[in-house]
Amino acid sequence: MNLKGRDFLKLLDFSPEEILYLVDLAADLKDKKKKGIPVDVLRGKNVALIFEKTSTRTRCSFEVAAHDLGMGTTYLDPSSSQIGRKESIEDTARVLAGMFDGIEYRGYGQEIVEELAKYSKVPVWNGLTNEFHPTQMLADLLTIREHFGYLKGIHFTYMGDARYNMGNSLMVTCAKMGMHFTACTSSKYFPDPALVAQCREIAASTGGSITLTEDVKEGTKGAEVIYTDVWVSMGEPDEVWVERIRDLSPYQVNMAVMNNAAENVVFMHCLPAYHDLHTKIGQEISERFGITEMEVTHEVFESEKSLVFQEAENRMHTIKAVMYATLV
Ligand code: CP
Ligand code: NVA
Repeated sequence: MNLKGRDFLKLLDFSPEEILYLVDLAADLKDKKKKGIPVDVLRGKNVALIFEKTSTRTRCSFEVAAHDLGMGTTYLDPSSSQIGRKESIEDTARVLAGMFDGIEYRGYGQEIVEELAKYSKVPVWNGLTNEFHPTQMLADLLTIREHFGYLKGIHFTYMGDARYNMGNSLMVTCAKMGMHFTACTSSKYFPDPALVAQCREIAASTGGSITLTEDVKEGTKGAEVIYTDVWVSMGEPDEVWVERIRDLSPYQVNMAVMNNAAENVVFMHCLPAYHDLHTKIGQEISERFGITEMEVTHEVFESEKSLVFQEAENRMHTIKAVMYATLV
């Protein structure tokens, strides 16, 4: 498998074999890290990390992984670069590609990261757009495989806003890996029909399936993974909280949902999560709407079925695999 020089923009661009190769590589790099075996084969190289939206996991993962691989990093924060305001994406791509060996980009429309990749002669990695979050997908696959031992045939249910980056990406990922994906949410939040059709076509060739349902009992029955994400994503206006809480509260991941799923069900979440009042926004929402938990209850989040911190750690190992595979 040779992915050197490739961009990593969305999993739709990769074959199931290539995705599995990246998961295997991440598992190997994780094992080496745990054993204290250094893999700093990219010494002397440098990567640019552009974040037009905030981040904890993705930024830290890129920085730690790059340093582990021997590389230098330059972080460009949401307000201090010229990108998009004073300088076009096309010009930025050509400037950065002259100085760096790879470019990570987190921002708004998918077309921006695609444009950056088009004009960059070095690999571009998507650190999250409105439409897709591909590095998160590798971490999720690694976590599921660590837990269950395999991926193919897993029954996976996503609850909440299924038409945004996480819902879209998870549907694509499940289709590619021969998993059974269910979006369990209000039909208003079902993924884009064109993407659903594309995923159904992929799933037909991998043995996976795509189901969309508004029925919580039906949608979570037999699920081995229950996954959710915040109801309001970065960059969305504050006003949408009212309708999201109204529309998505019936799709909260709580113990009733977990108990209706398969006996061996696990809970996953890309994080950050609103499961208590220990955040500023959580407190504001509580004052405005009188709720103390949102997409997942504290009980489920903290339960032994929750894999969220293993999943978060795996962001680093999988992002390392992406940089290694595309640069070495
Ligand atoms: N899951 C995830 O992407 O987290 P950050 O927003 O903290 O990077
Ligand atoms: N849907 C979320 C994912 C965060 C990792 C967002 O875009 O804010």
